[in-house]
Amino acid sequence: MNLGILVSGRGSNLQAIIDAVEGGRLESKISLVISDREGVQAIERCIRHGLAYRFIRRKDFGSREEFEQSMVQALKEANVELVVLAGFMRVLSSTFLQSFPMRVINIHPSITPAFQGLKAQRQAIEYGSRITGCTVHFVTEELDNGPVIAQACVPVLPEDTEESLSERILSYEHRILPQAIKWLSEGRVKVYGRQVVVEGARYGTLPFNPDLEDF
Ligand code: GAR
Repeated sequence: MNLGILVSGRGSNLQAIIDAVEGGRLESKISLVISDREGVQAIERCIRHGLAYRFIRRKDFGSREEFEQSMVQALKEANVELVVLAGFMRVLSSTFLQSFPMRVINIHPSITPAFQGLKAQRQAIEYGSRITGCTVHFVTEELDNGPVIAQACVPVLPEDTEESLSERILSYEHRILPQAIKWLSEGRVKVYGRQVVVEGARYGTLPFNPDLEDF
């Protein structure tokens, strides 16, 4: 499956996908990486691994629609079949989403619908949550709120800082994101309204639900 990956910063989730592809655990091709920011670590990773990348910046376009159309065009030219938002810090409108129906997924550092939007880890600490985690979900026009493919939960410890909690969650993000891509590439992900079922997966185990197979 040809992947298009959208990033805005560090790109550690991009790296997890690169590692899964290079390690032979994920039989997909990273066809194009798009960053909406220059000078980010994610692009250094593309250069290091010889991946095609493009900068497409919102400020270079008169409207959000034109910005999104430009990304769609680049992704279509690269024959992208699945778009992965890996730390892409923008909300996509129907202009983009209608071009890839149920073919855009996102990783978010909370158990959605809790703590949507920015600084989800800090939100969990400030709320006093004892459990949080991460979610891979289909992207809809509602922020961080589409049908859930996979989640992992992690404890929030009394001594946690935003950094320590983010790091704990991130190690799980790096597992559920490539796993979800693999399930999608195998055609095992079935969507029934808001319910998503991974065919043949084992459900009911924690901290992962469904249980991971490869990551
Ligand atoms: C990750 O924690 C990701 O879940 C989060 O941004 C970070 C990006 O890290 N995404 C969101 O909050 C989206 N709402 P990375 O650039 O190292 O992958």
